[in-house]
Amino acid sequence: MDFDLILKNGIIVTASEVLPQGLEVGVKGGKIACIGTDLPSSSHTEVIDAEGAYITPGGVDSHVHLAQKNSPTGDGWESGSRSAVAGGTTTIIAFASQERDDTSLYPVLEDYHAKSKDQSYCDYGFHFILTNPTQDILRKELPVLAEKEGITSVKLYMTYEAMKLNDRQVLDILFACKSLGMTTMIHAESHDMIALIIEGLEKNKNTDPYFHAVARPRIAEDEASYRAISLAELADTPMLIVHMSSDVAVGHVRDAQTRLLPIHAETCPHYLFLLSEKIKAEPHDHFSGAKHVCSPPLRHDPKDLDGLWQSIANGTFTTFSSDHAPSKYEAVGGKRLGLVDGIPRFSKIPNGLPGIETRMPLLFGQTPACQPADKAKLSLPRFVQLTAFNPAKLYGLEGRKGSIAPGYDADFVIWHPGAAGACTISQSRMHHDMDYTPFEGMKVKNWPRYTILRGKVVWDQKAGVLGEMRYGQYLKRGMGQVLHGKTGNLPRGWKEDERRYWL
Ligand code: URP
Ligand code: ZN
Ligand code: ZN
Repeated sequence: MDFDLILKNGIIVTASEVLPQGLEVGVKGGKIACIGTDLPSSSHTEVIDAEGAYITPGGVDSHVHLAQKNSPTGDGWESGSRSAVAGGTTTIIAFASQERDDTSLYPVLEDYHAKSKDQSYCDYGFHFILTNPTQDILRKELPVLAEKEGITSVKLYMTYEAMKLNDRQVLDILFACKSLGMTTMIHAESHDMIALIIEGLEKNKNTDPYFHAVARPRIAEDEASYRAISLAELADTPMLIVHMSSDVAVGHVRDAQTRLLPIHAETCPHYLFLLSEKIKAEPHDHFSGAKHVCSPPLRHDPKDLDGLWQSIANGTFTTFSSDHAPSKYEAVGGKRLGLVDGIPRFSKIPNGLPGIETRMPLLFGQTPACQPADKAKLSLPRFVQLTAFNPAKLYGLEGRKGSIAPGYDADFVIWHPGAAGACTISQSRMHHDMDYTPFEGMKVKNWPRYTILRGKVVWDQKAGVLGEMRYGQYLKRGMGQVLHGKTGNLPRGWKEDERRYWL
């Protein structure tokens, strides 16, 4: 075969194994054609020598906010997707977000297509955020949108005044998604616990950014996560709890998985690497903690980090996503909304952190590629599972994205050999349209040397972003697959046929 591209002299990593050094990857027409040795090249074949470095699948970041109305000052598709490829991510699944007064999803989708079409450096799809789940939307629109547009997942919120749904609405959506085979993602924090604490903090004039972490304690995440799992158990349908930060809440997931319930969990770089001390003011800027305001908040105790790392290693977490949710620090309408007449009001700070570019290098740095075996926090195949293979499978991209095998899109990250890629994260290196990175000053042991999307080099660390904005394609996704447990379970304590009396 006359290959367009051959990757040679690398160590290929998949979700199940690290292949022996020396195997080559042949690419034709944007797809992986074969893996072999001594692949023939012609005058038109591009050959990339990995020089002994690891080659992993291009990252799939399945939790990304771009150009949403509630974050008008951060990244849109152009800068967000540019930042993605510079950090080794070739596919993003971002949100098309319904506003409360939207009575149809069609205009919502049209709007997000308009914002992203010909604007993306990487491939992309959408999840819907549902905030007004009318019967028309659930029964008539979702089936058509899943079939025609390939939008096969939704995100729900149990918190935030403008977005939260009550348990009955969550159940209605779970049953609708079950009947369609769609995947439900849920932001699990107890709205009422948080609202009560915010009232008290404001009454006592405790309104600095740091009090955001006090207002959203672990127990609010623990309770809501358990409740969300129970709702999914009643409906007997798969669910993924997004951006988990509490080890107790993750324990509920582990328990559910042990009972073979189809419950999945996601965590994010900031919950693994940062603690709530980051939300405290820097000496020269009493509001600087706002840069680290996200929900759930960064937790207080290094033991929280340890617990989450354990769930990274032991398989409890299904996906590791950025939750890239950008609001600029200095811009009007950004984080400074939380500075009212010069006085910090944490409850008015837009939530979320940027992290689309730093996600892959931060986690890769904890694998045996960068750490002595006894210090590594996860294996290389587990890195691939969390950053590419699992999100692709869970969200209906299996066979196309997330692996290095014949027939898959030729999406790769080629890392630096040995210690050559070590660097320090800083805002000046980032490709996002943001004015800070929450990981400023952190050292990483490697950085993508090349990012390749459908056979084209879109990032070369020496030359910068090489891809074109129009190259990113919209992905119509299939139905997702269950990665943990199975459906068909009866809720605990039920008799065999109890559901049929009411369903
Ligand atoms: O703080 C966060 N995570 N903001 C983004 C919106 C969300 O809840 O995912
Ligand atoms: Zn959320
Ligand atoms: Zn989010």
